[in-house]
Order: sequence, then C-alpha cells, then structure tokens
Amino acid sequence: MENAQEEYYLDDDRLREFVTTVERTADRHEGIPALLSELREPFERLIEADDWLPERYRNLPPEDYDNRSDMGGEIAQWLLYRREGKLSISSLVVPPGVETPVHDHLAWGLVGLAQGTQRETFYRRTDAREHDEGHAELEVVEVQDAGPGDFYELIPPEGDIHSVETTSDVPSVSIHLLGADIGCIPRHAFDPDADLVRLFQSGYTNVECEDALGDEAHVHTHDTLH
Ligand SMILES: [Fe+2]
Repeated sequence: MENAQEEYYLDDDRLREFVTTVERTADRHEGIPALLSELREPFERLIEADDWLPERYRNLPPEDYDNRSDMGGEIAQWLLYRREGKLSISSLVVPPGVETPVHDHLAWGLVGLAQGTQRETFYRRTDAREHDEGHAELEVVEVQDAGPGDFYELIPPEGDIHSVETTSDVPSVSIHLLGADIGCIPRHAFDPDADLVRLFQSGYTNVECEDALGDEAHVHTHDTLH
C-alpha cells in the first residue's frame, strides 16, 4: 500500500521498484558511504534504462509553461518522487552551453547522467562557514566531464558543492536521488569570483514549494549568478 506521505509525479513501475530498493537499503545502513555504495548498482541500472523517463521530464518546459524552478538559465528541475522531506528523485534538464549556479545540497545524493554530456566543477568551502549570506571562499577541487551512464556521489559537508554545465549540443538530463526534498529546502548558491554566498531555494518546475526563505532573503539566482 502506498504510504500517505509519498508523492509520485511519475507513475512508473521501474521508478517504484527503485524507490523500494532505496528504502530497503536505507533500513539496513546508518552510514551514508555504505548506503551510497550499495545503491550505486541499482541507480546505474535506472539511469541507463531508456524506457521509464517520459519526454516531458527529459525536456525544457514549453514556452507558455509556468516554470517554477529557480535554478536560472531556463533550467528545468522536474520532481518525479518525494517522501516526507527525506527523499526526492528529480530530473534536471540543462540547455546546451548553460551552467547552473554553484550550489550545495546539504544532503547525501547520487547524480547520474541519462542524456547529453556535462562538465561538473566541484568546489570546497575554505572559510569558517560563519555566514549563510555574505562572505564565503571556495576553491575548485575537481573538474569532471560526464557522459550518459556516468554518475557521482554527493556527501556533505565535503563533496557537496558543485556547478553543472551542459557541453553537448542537446540538453543534458541528469537524475538526482537526494536524501532531502531538494527543490524546497533552503540551501546555498555561491559566486566564487565575488566570494559570496546566498541562501536559495531551487524549486521544482512542476511543483510549488512553500517559500522557505522569506521575501528579504529570497534572491533569484539567475539575476545574480550568471
Ligand atoms: Fe547539484
């Protein structure tokens, strides 16, 4: 029976089977590294299968669509599944040549590429992390090129900050499994050139979040970080 706090925005057997695997695995593991290492194989099977993610969630929204995502640069973030604020699965569609803001996730995650190619730039925050808004120093840890079937882990507090740029001439589509309701939680966007951090809420293209920031703190990232 479906848990009342589960929300499926895509009704698909393969997705349901994957969610069941995640929950069973999470029941067995307290530690994030062990959980992620056991989820790698089922996650890889999910992102390599081409029969479950419909066209709608592989594409940018139609022009007249009210895109609620705040990732900037016409980026779409489609919510596919979430549970109790503890788990979400979404697809991120980034047009060719467009780059996300540098951002963190504040949650464990697995991110895998289902279509196109991306360049991921991973950062480490090197200041004392005293501010959610204002001064922040970052250094680049690694730059990685990813193609279809490639995936990587997100483990906070290190290994949690990155930006993603599409390097293919078609939009890149990446699947995000995260241990949080990632579109709705307040988290951070960074401007490494200006040594600045801001709170932001990325939102979802297809689902509205409650405003977790308040008007004053709510800065639209695409106005400031591109
Ligand atoms: Fe991300």
